Amino acid sequence: MSISPLQQERYAYQPALPASLSGDLETLETVSGPATESIANQNELKQLFTETYGHPTITFRQGDTRKTYNALNVGVILSGGQAPGGHNVIAGLYDGLKKINADSKLFGFLGGPSGILEDKAIEMTGGYVDQYRNTGGFDIIGSGRTKLETEEQYERCIEVCRNRGIGAIVIIGGDDSNTNAAVLAEYFQKKKSGIQVIGAPKTIDGDLKNEQIEISFGFDTATKTYSELIGNIERDANSAKKYWHFIKLMGRSASHICLECALQTRPNVALISEEIEEKRTTLSEIVKQITSVIVERSRQNENFGVVLVPEGLIEFIPEMKILINELNTLLAEHARHFITLRTFEDQSEWVNKNLTRDSSYAFSSLPYNIQRQLLMDRDPHGNVQVSRIETEQLLIEMVEDRLNELKNEGTYKGSFSYQHHFFGYEGRCAFPSNFDANYCYALGFNAAVLIREGLTGYISSIRNLSKPADQWEAGGIPLTMMMNMELRHGKMKPVIRKALVELSGAPFRAFSAKREEWALKTSYTFPGAIQYYGPDEICNKPAISLSLEAGESYR
Ligand code: FBP
Repeated sequence: MSISPLQQERYAYQPALPASLSGDLETLETVSGPATESIANQNELKQLFTETYGHPTITFRQGDTRKTYNALNVGVILSGGQAPGGHNVIAGLYDGLKKINADSKLFGFLGGPSGILEDKAIEMTGGYVDQYRNTGGFDIIGSGRTKLETEEQYERCIEVCRNRGIGAIVIIGGDDSNTNAAVLAEYFQKKKSGIQVIGAPKTIDGDLKNEQIEISFGFDTATKTYSELIGNIERDANSAKKYWHFIKLMGRSASHICLECALQTRPNVALISEEIEEKRTTLSEIVKQITSVIVERSRQNENFGVVLVPEGLIEFIPEMKILINELNTLLAEHARHFITLRTFEDQSEWVNKNLTRDSSYAFSSLPYNIQRQLLMDRDPHGNVQVSRIETEQLLIEMVEDRLNELKNEGTYKGSFSYQHHFFGYEGRCAFPSNFDANYCYALGFNAAVLIREGLTGYISSIRNLSKPADQWEAGGIPLTMMMNMELRHGKMKPVIRKALVELSGAPFRAFSAKREEWALKTSYTFPGAIQYYGPDEICNKPAISLSLEAGESYR
């Protein structure tokens, strides 16, 4: 593979570490906070996690005693969707382990969690890791979505680790993968296997965040990449003045990406799924809201604009949520019969007969291509694959119909031409921003220190992220602290709570204070491409949501 000049240059970038980790590791000591509790369901979780519940949070300080440490053998797994910076977590982990003891070894399990079950791994060498420093992607070892959730799988993990002499695993993943990490850590402790498990918070979706985790890695770069593209489209829209652009943005469930991109680019409309769910806004009301902005702008002769649509929207619209749940159950319970239905007509007739009256009405009122997409293959958990539903096109079709009605009534005289876009994969493997390059390197390096300290069932935590990297605070958070009990496939399960957009949170409040102005007045901002070299102000600024959550104001 030939190397681009930027990639070549990025190899030389040395990520910054928090002050505590950049000093002398041999005199670094842990400081334990008080015992912790889970965010809810404390009694149930205490019983389920008898070994790992309630452990203290960990921070570090420089002590006076110099200690040396044995070599550590560690395995690392990348789990789930790609997120910029994953390579730097591994580079940080590698460097941390080698700094602790030059004889330490790092094994990368290939292709995600299935790599450990199939015992497919490579031993990382310095030369190999160097080829991936500060680059995007997960191709260093590959990723996958296999879940580690059965006792048989846990036993297999122990067997593979024992055979390879691995004493700790680092799982780099989102809320589900870190939930798996917590369960695995507990199992390993109960079995006295001596194998530690440490998690690292990954996902561009930004929904693995809470009191303890300020942001998951990858969100910063992905949102900056999408915002660059949105800004470019806004400028095009404002130049040609002839198109409405409907842009769907990734984020399986939460709308953090859409909200952050709206704050960065000031579009005319940005839908936030959590608000739609909270206000129980129906699909036709959403269409009316968008239409009224289009009509108002047409009165000012502005027949153009930009609408941001979060990927997960459809599952937050009340009647669609019910419909999708009914469809998921129907297709799971009658899977065998359903595959015998050869044509779309047969499928939709059968579905309509078996849905409740309201859902059948909701289903039939959708354009055919959306009906088809709703009947497509489910993911391994039986859920509809939202990234394959063209919600932006659904909205376009419905908006167009409504505008035609208004035209017939004589209340709309503008013109409506549109373009649609979906930005998701464009951002998941971008060169990590300096923020993500530093954050990820620190997460990995910190994970090595947590392992050295004998900890298990912890997530690597780097905090105070709105400040420059040397002021970041490194430490460990017990995974059980972020957990509660939730209904999953008909059973109550311990899980890390997914963070949705909070309507009372600073990012949403900043957005809602401005959105009426942005709807009618063209207020676009053009963030441009991510900058890796240059003044701090343009190279090292974290995401706007992060700064707002840290108390900064929106300007
Ligand atoms: P993770 O939660 O695993 O980080 O994945 C996030 C994501 O990029 C979502 O935004 C998107 O809906 C999904 O992955 C798409 O996954 P896939 O490429 O496997 O279809």
